[in-house]
Amino acid sequence: MNFNGKTALITGAGRGIGKTIAVKLAKFGSDIALADMNPINDDVLKEIEENGTKCLSYKLDVTNVDAVDSVVKKIIDETGGIHILVNNAGITQDNLFMRMKPEQWLQVIDVNLNGVFHVTKSVIRTMVKQHSGRIINISSVVGFSGNPGQVNYSSTKSGLIGFTKSLSREVGTRGITVNAVAPGFINTAMTQALNESQQQAILSQIPLGRMGEVDDIANAVAFLASEEASYITGTVLHVNGGMY
Ligand code: NAI
Repeated sequence: MNFNGKTALITGAGRGIGKTIAVKLAKFGSDIALADMNPINDDVLKEIEENGTKCLSYKLDVTNVDAVDSVVKKIIDETGGIHILVNNAGITQDNLFMRMKPEQWLQVIDVNLNGVFHVTKSVIRTMVKQHSGRIINISSVVGFSGNPGQVNYSSTKSGLIGFTKSLSREVGTRGITVNAVAPGFINTAMTQALNESQQQAILSQIPLGRMGEVDDIANAVAFLASEEASYITGTVLHVNGGMY
């Protein structure tokens, strides 16, 4: 895969899956724009620049429409365009439905769905002008299977599938593909916080017998972002070790 001359914007890129996606795309030659609501560690920038690609970094809350438009404009002014958008920023606010507060519902919808709307809306004009683009939305296995305590989160992750499929039908003739990656249980801070018996319960449901690694997700995203995936749109790539 070769992303020379391309620029990729990755939201929620300060750590975890987003950071790994950014490093992976840079290894294949893409310039990178990192956006995260929390400060991004200089080590992340260094790791990306070691590949000889440009790395821009922005503090951005994806729920803030004006800030999104301003950052997208800056990236385009600096690099000439945005060719790959990875909507990765996402949060959880888990609670059983009977106890879930309206704020927990609204906050998760705001980041995981409204945020994707704002960023995509801001970026898509430049992709239409370029007659090419790749949009990859990070969903989740629980958007398909459901999960107790995650009515809010799983609703957003299923919602992203409707978003992906509908948008892919609108922009296909403009040379833009829109796909989703649905990770299963990935070895990150979130899953490391589970206790031993919770981890064993999860592992027993995974035919491949291990949790996923952040690289497993980054590899899938890189493929969907590549020329090699140019005839794939409106689809979901499940990366979950066979658990669903
Ligand atoms: P993480 O919590 O380690 O990283 C998420 C990043 O998004 C953080 O750097 C955070 O600062 C940033 N962020 C949060 N709210 C934001 C906002 N409003 N604006 C901009 N940035 C914001 O999460 P992780 O595990 O790397 O997950 C990344 C994506 O993958 C999320 O969409 C998550 O739902 C999804 N996912 C993760 C799985 C896992 O097992 N870790 C499984 C399935 C899906």
